[in-house]
Amino acid sequence: MTESLQIGETSTATRAGAARGVVKKPSLPPDAPLPSGVRKADDLLARRFGGVMRVSPFLTRQIVSFQANKTKPRYRWFKYKEAFSADLVKYLLSIAGARPDAVLDPFAGMGTSLFACAGVGTDADGVELLPVGHCIVGAHNSLANFGADDFSALEKWRSSGARQNGRRLPLNELRITAGAYPPESRAQIESFLGALEAAPAQLQPVLRFAALCVLEDASYTRKDGQFLRWDNRSGRQLKQQFHKGKLPSFADALDKKIAQIIRDARADGGFFSSCEKRGKIRLFPGSCLDVLPSLPGESYDAVLTSPPYCNRYDYTRTYALELALLGADEKEISDLRQRMLTCTVENRPKTIVRKEWRAPLEWAGGHPLLGEIVRFLEEQRRRGLLNNGAIVRMVSEYFREMACVIYECARLMRRGAAFFMVNDNVRYGGADISVDFILSGFAESAGLEVQNILVSPQTKGNSSQQMGAHGRSALRKCVCVWRKP
Ligand SMILES: C[S@@+](CC[C@H](N)C(=O)[O-])C[C@H]1O[C@@H](n2cnc3c(N)ncnc32)[C@H](O)[C@@H]1O
Repeated sequence: MTESLQIGETSTATRAGAARGVVKKPSLPPDAPLPSGVRKADDLLARRFGGVMRVSPFLTRQIVSFQANKTKPRYRWFKYKEAFSADLVKYLLSIAGARPDAVLDPFAGMGTSLFACAGVGTDADGVELLPVGHCIVGAHNSLANFGADDFSALEKWRSSGARQNGRRLPLNELRITAGAYPPESRAQIESFLGALEAAPAQLQPVLRFAALCVLEDASYTRKDGQFLRWDNRSGRQLKQQFHKGKLPSFADALDKKIAQIIRDARADGGFFSSCEKRGKIRLFPGSCLDVLPSLPGESYDAVLTSPPYCNRYDYTRTYALELALLGADEKEISDLRQRMLTCTVENRPKTIVRKEWRAPLEWAGGHPLLGEIVRFLEEQRRRGLLNNGAIVRMVSEYFREMACVIYECARLMRRGAAFFMVNDNVRYGGADISVDFILSGFAESAGLEVQNILVSPQTKGNSSQQMGAHGRSALRKCVCVWRKP
């Protein structure tokens, strides 16, 4: 008989592992307004994982974020602010042991881990839900096959003014992108879309990508933490005054971007040159919750990833301009939002029917710290102390889904393979949530050893809402290192 489980169902208990090691500092601030249940469960895990926690001076804010990519040829083309750096990937590969033959990133984003692995000759597979990531990786893959003639054709297209002639194709307008561009730039984007269709086939992925790279610059918006910030000139009703300064026109910005792409790609400053043969890159479209179960077991020597954090960050809003250019309409945006790993209050529980996931759903349903946190948040919600009641569901669904992802990745790892998980702890209703401890518990349940929890020396501040209500306390930013025995 096939049992069906909905990912949103609750289930029974799991066991805590053996205690080992002691951490010097308690993981929760002593003045935090927490019930003793959360504090005790967290302290237990702090003792259990204390022996493997290390502050790693290498994990600076620059390295664990996109910042270190900003000056790197190729990586700098598109600002994917949620990315980690290529240097982080290289560092993690160096501690993985022998150079892995094949690496998996189930939340590939702009493809940093895929490119950095391919650059040292390692094959890399990724899964990414947003079409933005596919446009970026597709353009890089096309450029990897460019010869001198292709670069000349790209240069010719850029200087011929082709993008300004001929017919215009309408740009999708979404509620959240309405009024994003000055009329002149909007007209240029529509001319570009018309010209793109007539461009030589091998140039199209690169041209589309170049346009994607400059949309924010040419718009009245700025990606700012969790939100798109809007300039007053957009004509929107805004609570705060914001002036972005002089905007480049879309055509000028595109021109400069294509020139930068040609320069970097021709020089190829070490991107794929540090090995004899570039590793193969495959990026699967869709949700990793659907794709991972379809991949054959024991295929990878390392998993290297940074999932969305449990922090209400909505990628479909942040990348709305880019998604609209790629043709997404309101319905597609809303579908993408629901298929994302749950990390916003808008996410509804996913219905996923898969009998193998009974075990990971039980790890989540019976996790002692997670159980205490959910009870505490539920109580805060009842007392009106959470600024959004759906936070309780979001936190609980986030961990259920992550348990399933970890279960699948463990199945896909070969013996001896390493799993690097970059994540941030979060804070709701005054409670620090030790994401690193909870996910490491799931990893142990999946049969992996917790080798290290590497902690960034620079901890993260809280969101402004949290700071106002509960004061500031440090939140760990970690790389968990798990190993399949
Ligand atoms: C923190 S970012 C990863 C960034 C990546 N490490 C890089 O350097 O570009 C998390 C990514 O997970 C993607 N994502 C969210 N839910 C997903 C899902 N269910 N399946 C696959 N990808 C998903 C998001 O679109 C986002 O690009």
